[in-house]
Amino acid sequence: MEFSIKQGSPEKLRNGCVLVGVFEGGKLSDAAQALDKLSQHYISDIIARGDMTGKAASTLLLHKVPDVASERVLLLGLGKPAELDSRQYRDCVRAAMRALHATSAKDALLYLAELPVKGRDSAWCINQAVLAAYETAYRFDRLKSKPEKDKKVLKKIQFGLLTAKPTAVLESALIQAAAIAQGMVLAKDLGNLPGNICTPSYLAQQALSLAKSHKTIKTTVLEEKDMQKLGMGSLLSVTQGSAEPAKLITLEYHGADKKQKPVVLVGKGITFDSGGISLKPGGEMDEMKYDMCGAASVLGTIQAIAEMGLKLNVVGIIPSSDNMPSGSASKPGDIVTSMSGQTIEILNTDAEGRLVLCDALTYAAKFEPDTVIDIATLTGACIIALGHVASGLYSNQDKLAQELLAAGEQTQDKAWHMPLWEEYQSQLDSNFADMQNIGGRPGGSITAACFLSRYTKAYRWAHLDIAGTAWKSGKDKGATGRPVPLLTQYLINRVAGAK
Ligand code: BES
Ligand code: MN
Ligand code: ZN
Repeated sequence: MEFSIKQGSPEKLRNGCVLVGVFEGGKLSDAAQALDKLSQHYISDIIARGDMTGKAASTLLLHKVPDVASERVLLLGLGKPAELDSRQYRDCVRAAMRALHATSAKDALLYLAELPVKGRDSAWCINQAVLAAYETAYRFDRLKSKPEKDKKVLKKIQFGLLTAKPTAVLESALIQAAAIAQGMVLAKDLGNLPGNICTPSYLAQQALSLAKSHKTIKTTVLEEKDMQKLGMGSLLSVTQGSAEPAKLITLEYHGADKKQKPVVLVGKGITFDSGGISLKPGGEMDEMKYDMCGAASVLGTIQAIAEMGLKLNVVGIIPSSDNMPSGSASKPGDIVTSMSGQTIEILNTDAEGRLVLCDALTYAAKFEPDTVIDIATLTGACIIALGHVASGLYSNQDKLAQELLAAGEQTQDKAWHMPLWEEYQSQLDSNFADMQNIGGRPGGSITAACFLSRYTKAYRWAHLDIAGTAWKSGKDKGATGRPVPLLTQYLINRVAGAK
């Protein structure tokens, strides 16, 4: 899809479809008013007849509106003007994009940028509309033998501005949003690919091909023997039962001066989590192909910032492995030594995410990071705590937590700050090793974060538990591409803040 911003009123610009908003109660947006006037109240007549009430996220497609140059007019209900907040705007824009994709219009002109959304500017409106355009167009049908029939034809989207000129701020909002949306597509594709295709080796290939297409990215892949030399006994214990070789993938993105300390993103890359010897129950076990969505979000974010040429140094680290039961698999009760030297009693082989992450987090120190953020589908307990709305956020520094929360709020990719209090740490006490890998049922997401905190004392660190937000179950099963928007926005904000 191609996006641009254009100044002008809707009646003059010719397009496959022009979209204008109408409010509940009959009030027209400024763009709708312009069309209404030109078409001799064609639109207000329809509203008077009651066929378009302006209810939020409702749409009505009109053909051949008198004196309007565009072939179609799409009316979009915006709800009550007083209620047009971020969430409502997003719902409306998604509905509009779905309706647009259902037409055979090849290009469209959307008057969405200047709507009065509470606390938001035009740049924000454009950002959310671009994300919605990609979101609603996304299909994962590459593994069907026959391609689906509803091929999307919409190629060009213009954002119309009635009065303001397309400024550099708006243009860069457009570029950034498209890069984020494409990063989400990469993250979704990787998440949706099954475990027999998306293996640790496949993720390594993806990282190598990102380096091939962007000369600002350098990718290195460590093999099991390299990890052995580094003393990554914890990570290696997870791959022990699997036929697929584990990989430790590193992507270095250089967008700023070599001397600038990087932000390191560490993504859990378990390409299938059967639970190992502590085998999971069979129902929905297929969804454990999504256990690499942390890794996918790192790849998506790095692709996005490379596309927009962000002036920052970022390192992505992906510890990737399968977690399988077999004669060679690790067993409950096994004790392993992590790269940090700390020993771990594995009481449950299904708590494998923290076992691969702890060694990757120790390894991260080698890059002398300014900040380290790990992203992981870490605990079912996080879904119980926060559902599918917010990712669980933990940090050893409140300021970093606030910055990540703000980026999530800005992109509507929300997170919620969870406690990392000392009182929870004793749940990890072991009789035989420095710690055990599970802390019992109470506060399961918190004790998982506590486990990681024992490996991140050397730097500023945050942890995102995305178990509830990385994919959807049920009829609409599929990866969401989260938290690529949150992470990318955080990095953008860092650059903007440093100026
Ligand atoms: N990948 C899972 C977490 C998960 C479960 C994500 C369900 C999404 C949906 C993780 O490796 C895991 O199995 N965690 C265990 C930890 C427990 C054994 C302490 C869990 O949450 O049950
Ligand atoms: Mn598990
Ligand atoms: Zn897992």
